[in-house]
Amino acid sequence: MTTTTINLPTSKFAYKIKAVEKIHQLTRKEREKALKLSGYNPFSLSSSQVYIDLHTDSGTSALSQEQWAALMTGDESYAGSSSYEKLCHSVEDIFGYRQCIPTHQGRGAEQILLPLLLERNLGKGSPNSSLDNKVFVSNFHFDTTAAHVELTGSTAVNLVIEDAYKTDVSHPWKGNIDIEKLTLEIEQRGAHNVVALIMTVTCNSMGGQPVSMENLRLAYEVAHRHEIPVVMDAARFAENAWFIKRRDPNYANHSIKDIVFEMFKYADMMVMSAKKDAMVNIGGLCAIKDDLALYREVQVGCVVREGFPSYGGLAGRDVNCLAVGLYEAMDEDYLTARIEQVIQLGLWLLDEGIPIQYPVGGHAVFIDAGKLFPHIPSSQFPGQALANELYLEGGIRCAEIGSFLLGRDPDTGIQKDSAVELTRLAIPRRVYSNDQLRYVVECMVAIKNRAQQVHGYGFVYEPPVLRHFLAHLEPIIAS
Ligand code: F0G
Repeated sequence: MTTTTINLPTSKFAYKIKAVEKIHQLTRKEREKALKLSGYNPFSLSSSQVYIDLHTDSGTSALSQEQWAALMTGDESYAGSSSYEKLCHSVEDIFGYRQCIPTHQGRGAEQILLPLLLERNLGKGSPNSSLDNKVFVSNFHFDTTAAHVELTGSTAVNLVIEDAYKTDVSHPWKGNIDIEKLTLEIEQRGAHNVVALIMTVTCNSMGGQPVSMENLRLAYEVAHRHEIPVVMDAARFAENAWFIKRRDPNYANHSIKDIVFEMFKYADMMVMSAKKDAMVNIGGLCAIKDDLALYREVQVGCVVREGFPSYGGLAGRDVNCLAVGLYEAMDEDYLTARIEQVIQLGLWLLDEGIPIQYPVGGHAVFIDAGKLFPHIPSSQFPGQALANELYLEGGIRCAEIGSFLLGRDPDTGIQKDSAVELTRLAIPRRVYSNDQLRYVVECMVAIKNRAQQVHGYGFVYEPPVLRHFLAHLEPIIAS
């Protein structure tokens, strides 16, 4: 394997713990029973049955004392809340986007914006304007984003660089979109059939991998040449900026805030799940750089789906907390401590010979379960098999990112082809200690040592959309 040199540790200590939550580990027998009852899907486990929860970094952060203070001083007015004004001010200051609405979470923003973009595209009255030909293109659509694209009747096309799929090939920007493929897709489809370009920073599905500033700029230029609007999926905007500062010498002396500001020049609008980098337990937003007409349409969509545009499905206190969290996300000492903790976990696993997506991304370590369990075919979900084993071994909850999550083609019903079968260990922000992560490594080593005995899974119940959230599975044990 070629490796990117990572010097650890450089972290400054960025915080100390003020409030704690008790955790408790079930016995192995109790875990076996709990997993069976969950339909072999850790999504359905009760949190009281989980010891270390690495299911997601979404909405699971520990708040700072400043965020708790903001919760106490939120303005609960139905309209014209000062917390909303504070949020708008933060969004304009940080991203340079003048119009903003909060939403209950990221998918709340997606469900408003994406159908509006399609409507606008159809309104162009271009030749060959059938819905069948419409696509959204992206480095990689997150699963809820892809689901919302598909709900509009359009297709979600992922064009991340090929190296992103090769977990043992080192590349500093595995979140980059392949600019050649993007150009080709636009030429072959016809620009009028490309509803929007969605740039996901960092690229969650590929391992929290960063997108370079140059790639953001080039993709924006290509899209704009063809009058295609660019949307930033901004859930992990600050982690992406940290990687730009660390890996692109042109930005080594820039502040994270300046890098973020420049990143967002290369988009026209953004959707954000604020439950990640912005470290709120609930919240999202949709912001538009300067298209006032589109903003008005978004406001109307918000009133119908989320609530009045100044609260968007949130309490005033949540909006207030979000306005603070957006700034905390960019604190460089915090970012360094946070991302280097994630990298440290990845390096420990690598040392034990466990295959992971390399280099390690910003919010999670992605284990290559396809490589760990070569005897389990994709159709029997090796990534889900590993997630279940980690629960059985140590009460650790994590998530599959592979064929199980990818699901079926909505038109043909055929299972989509996943290039990699991954299991994600997502690290909540400011929550777990390195000792707890060492325990995760010990459990992984035990599983690696009995990898041959691990088996795959098949469906007992398969929901029609976003099936991985609610599916029930059963073990497939060869006779
Ligand atoms: N975009 C990205 C890149 C995401 O990672 C997520 C959520 C969303 C959009 C949707 O946001 O959950 O607030 O509605 N990711 C979570 C995860 C669920 O575990 O990675 P949401």
